[in-house]
Amino acid sequence: MTRKLFVTTALPYANAAFHIGHMMEYIQADIWVRFQRMQRDAGTQRVVHFVGADDTHGTPIMIAAEKEGVTPQEFVAKIAAGRAQYLDGFHIAFDNWHSTDSPENVDLSQSIYRRLRDNGLIYTKTVDRFYDTAKGMFLADRNIKGECPVCHAKDQYGDNCEVCGAAYQPTELINPYSVFTGSTPILKPSEQYFFKLSDPRCFQFLKEWLNTPGRLQPEMVNKVSEWLGENGEKLADWDISRDAPYFGIPIPDAPGKFFYVWLDAPVGYLASLKNYFEKKGIDYEAFLNDPAAEQVHFIGKDIVSFHLLFWPAMLNFSGHPIIDKLKVNVHGHLTVNNEKMSKSRGTGISPLRYLDLKMNPEWLRYYLAFKLNAKVEDLDFTGEDFVARVNSDLIGKYVNIASRCAGFIAKRFDGKLASTLSDDAKQWIARALNGEHGERQASIAANFEAREFGKALREIMEVADVANRYVDENKPWILAKDETKTAELHDVCTAALILFRQLTILLSPVLPHVAAQVRAFLGDDAYSWDDTQGERVTAPLLGRTINAYSHLMQRVDAKMVEDLFDKPAPAATPAAETAVTTAEPAAPAAAVATAEASDIEPLAPEISIDDFTKIDLRVAKIVNCEHVEGAGKLLRLTLDVGEGRYRNVFSGIKSAYQPEQLIGKLTVVVANLAPRKMKFGVSEGMVLCASAQDEKANPGLYLLEPVSGAQPGMRIR
Ligand code: MSP
Ligand code: ZN
Repeated sequence: MTRKLFVTTALPYANAAFHIGHMMEYIQADIWVRFQRMQRDAGTQRVVHFVGADDTHGTPIMIAAEKEGVTPQEFVAKIAAGRAQYLDGFHIAFDNWHSTDSPENVDLSQSIYRRLRDNGLIYTKTVDRFYDTAKGMFLADRNIKGECPVCHAKDQYGDNCEVCGAAYQPTELINPYSVFTGSTPILKPSEQYFFKLSDPRCFQFLKEWLNTPGRLQPEMVNKVSEWLGENGEKLADWDISRDAPYFGIPIPDAPGKFFYVWLDAPVGYLASLKNYFEKKGIDYEAFLNDPAAEQVHFIGKDIVSFHLLFWPAMLNFSGHPIIDKLKVNVHGHLTVNNEKMSKSRGTGISPLRYLDLKMNPEWLRYYLAFKLNAKVEDLDFTGEDFVARVNSDLIGKYVNIASRCAGFIAKRFDGKLASTLSDDAKQWIARALNGEHGERQASIAANFEAREFGKALREIMEVADVANRYVDENKPWILAKDETKTAELHDVCTAALILFRQLTILLSPVLPHVAAQVRAFLGDDAYSWDDTQGERVTAPLLGRTINAYSHLMQRVDAKMVEDLFDKPAPAATPAAETAVTTAEPAAPAAAVATAEASDIEPLAPEISIDDFTKIDLRVAKIVNCEHVEGAGKLLRLTLDVGEGRYRNVFSGIKSAYQPEQLIGKLTVVVANLAPRKMKFGVSEGMVLCASAQDEKANPGLYLLEPVSGAQPGMRIR
């Protein structure tokens, strides 16, 4: 049967831009969704609708809008307009992004409410609420401050004390005042609407619902069961109303009353689905009643009570058919360097800065996936760990396989892979995949399905380890030097690329962009999970002509990661102090510098800036690099200087580099040097290297490489 999955992430508050914790939740859900979408073959097929929305209502957004002098609608529209750059930037493929401030949500929330009311689960009660007479409004908990009734700390919010952590009612504050006007609020009776969670029907339903196998993580079942109490005695009624002025959805038949934001927020999941289905011409009601439909929420540990008490009760007692198919996946929080994220402490990471630094979004996807499991555990982002993990796994183990083998297929076999494999090659493939037909994929699939992404990736890296051992033992670069070993070279490179393709398919839920590049390189169609088993493992590549390989991914540069962190406000360094230090030759640091200075090559005669600008230096990407027959010192470089054509450049760096080492790297080329005809062809420029003056005593030769992020064609000035 085709599973029909309706998948969501928590709807973010539209009062601020995304932070890296949001991205973690979206990446987790997106990987799961992409894995499900790869189940496309008959028998295992899954259809996924992955939707999100902004959570727009409530007091904080009202206040934020007021501060900016705009309406709440204008305010949330601006936030919503900024979402795409984050989602697209990290390859998060929502089918739809909507808003809780939408006609669909008004409609659905009010209709759920009416059904709950008709079911006898809504009642009203008059309670005393703080009221700001100067502003003419009831005050939400966070609009009131005063002295903590427990520790007597001043200026604490109406719901809990940030100093001693005590929770209390706003009416318990000593000397309360309104944050808007500073005036002392009065207590004014107000009629409020309550959802009767204490009704015995709710307890009975929730107890059974929570304990349905497969619905929740075991630790969540335990935790929420505690909230119910033995017989439901711990379930308290829920105040679902707020007084005007409030940015929210009006309560039907209750003038001046609005739904508390958490009443309409989860309904936003359905509103976004409905909105999406309308655009797509899919029948919404039919979907909800479809026995194959499932609703899967990804949420953080801080919003569990709303999703595991109120929301299921709301769905169930409004007669919503999908309640039996609801699953909730709870994740822990992302910390940075083992601290809760905080801008003031300088540990926050801005997702946009990450992208601005041209850091590869798939690095973060891989790193977070590697740390994720199905438990409700916090996970930590540590710079060094990130650099090490990405460079060792993605570059060192995965990309490396292709970059070591693809060039030979292009150069020596016109891009054509071998049509048959030796027994040895077949055995290695079987060893890597635990069988010629990819038996290992089943346990990797089970781990993706169960959101054990770390386990899945460890297993995929074990496949990569075997593939690398295969290449290391067979050394294609040595085979390539021996004319009699041509067939062997063909066999080894073909088998290695077959394994590389398998790794790509297995990694594609995590690395969708790389997978697309590999498909273009290998001439494949969209990958399906069934491409990891049976005949589809080796057969498709045999005898196929593939395209030129271009480098898939750069290494992470540790410097980039440093730039990623919010800098704490710099400690004041008076300019004069800095000047004194540099002008003081006796300072130990400067003395060392001077001593070493005498060892370097003397400087060339002074030039003007005009002299310098005559030299046009450009960033170039080495798209190919090879030995030159009959030339003892030269390598032939094919360079992309962003001109829409490639340049051919010869460089005397053979003693320092193997061609494979350079393919995909960036370097610097003198781009306006007159072309020079050489014995082996025309050289159209010169790449730059550093070397010591006395090459005999100090023979190193170092090709220049810009910090990653530079693009081919950029000028160096
Ligand atoms: N608007 C509510 C959710 C309504 S759902 C009907 C909300 N919004 S939020 O913007 O504060 O959080 C959105 C999601 O981000 C939540 O699932 C929350 O747990 C998650 N995260 C917030 N900080 C996080 C981390 N540091 N790490 C991982 N997830 C984090 O709550
Ligand atoms: Zn206190």
